[in-house]
Amino acid sequence: MHEPYRIKVVESLPRVSPSARRKALETAGYNPFHLQAGEVEIDLVSDSGTGAMSSRQWSAVMAAREDFSGQESFRDFVAVAKEVFGFEHIQPVHQGRAAENLLFRLLLRSGDVALSNTFFETTRANIEVLGCEARDLPDTSPPWCGNIDLERLERTLRRNRRVRLILLTVTNNIEGGQPVSLENIVRAREIADAYGVLLALDASRFAGNAYLVKKLSGSRKSIKGLCRESFGRSHLAFLSLKKDGLANVGGMIGFNDHRLLEPLAQEVIRQESYPSAGGLAARDLAAMTVGLQEAVDERVIGAHVRSVRFLADELKNNGVEIFEPVGAHGVVIHPRGGDEHAANALAAEIYLEGGVRAGVFDETVRLAVPRRVYTRDHLRHVAEIVGWAYRRQPMNLKCVHRPAEFSNFFARFEATEIERRR
Ligand SMILES: Cc1ncc(COP(=O)(O)O)c(C=O)c1O
Repeated sequence: MHEPYRIKVVESLPRVSPSARRKALETAGYNPFHLQAGEVEIDLVSDSGTGAMSSRQWSAVMAAREDFSGQESFRDFVAVAKEVFGFEHIQPVHQGRAAENLLFRLLLRSGDVALSNTFFETTRANIEVLGCEARDLPDTSPPWCGNIDLERLERTLRRNRRVRLILLTVTNNIEGGQPVSLENIVRAREIADAYGVLLALDASRFAGNAYLVKKLSGSRKSIKGLCRESFGRSHLAFLSLKKDGLANVGGMIGFNDHRLLEPLAQEVIRQESYPSAGGLAARDLAAMTVGLQEAVDERVIGAHVRSVRFLADELKNNGVEIFEPVGAHGVVIHPRGGDEHAANALAAEIYLEGGVRAGVFDETVRLAVPRRVYTRDHLRHVAEIVGWAYRRQPMNLKCVHRPAEFSNFFARFEATEIERRR
């Protein structure tokens, strides 16, 4: 099936010569996150904030009126978010991590424990910074590789009285966005109720999860219907709208408990801006509103997930070993060879080969596909580049800097042999 849009505006891709790539990589300490975007020909380092907005979104951006409070764009956003997620209260914020910071300050006390299928890095950091523990309990049995392990969840709750929160990341950000089943969410809620703890969703990739739930379970429900069902099981949710929300910036919190309303508004005004702005310009809110409407269109999310699968198939055709089942927003590659820095070495080779930027997360290389940005020809080209890089003897890297926190983003390396081998 073809994409449900045609192209109106195009952006030229930079051409970066092999010698410029080599220099850029050295300057970046062999960490793709440090490359300048202009030094990258095809950028698959993240699917966050990198999507293309629609003509409807851009029209809404132009039409939005900027005011200090009582913005029309706030009213419109709240109405659409309530319809999609079903919560009574909606608070926009400028990013997903702002939502994490605001919420955890209100919900957690030092010494508390939060449990998850897998915490995203900033989510974990925003919990740990409060003196709390963030513990992962993944159940990676296919096809629901994103689930939380319900047995371990219950066992942990039985033994530990300091658990305050169960957080399901949907899709689970591991291995390119693995789905969480509806049954898993339902059971997690029952367990949460039995132990009197909160169930929250970190739902930045809510549409991808709903789409995979639909496909894997053969459900006839709409994407919006499946979203309502998942969110209806949670006490609250927070989202980055830079992913499935199809906006370049933005986030939100949704909840039903009115007791949270005032303390949250106080936190928002202290840290973000007036609550009806949520740290955003009215034009950003307008883009988020239309983004949410488009996000639950099955043709839109279907095209995105299919493009990820297309890339996965092309990679396999080029002899690249990938993680399967493939997730909803990216393809994860297991590098050859057991070298400690094999993932960084492979990402470096991919960039040297064709100016393609991949992300490195611990031992794996992730190709995250921005929404509505690259065509199948681009992705086929990426697969060829990765195939060539993958077959080559990986370069030897030496780590020269690795901070304790956020090391994927800030580590730096040196290559001793690179010049000799080229
Ligand atoms: C699962 C998940 N939660 C939260 C966040 C944080 O969102 P943001 O980047 O908008 O701060 C991200 C960002 O990548 C994410 O993937």
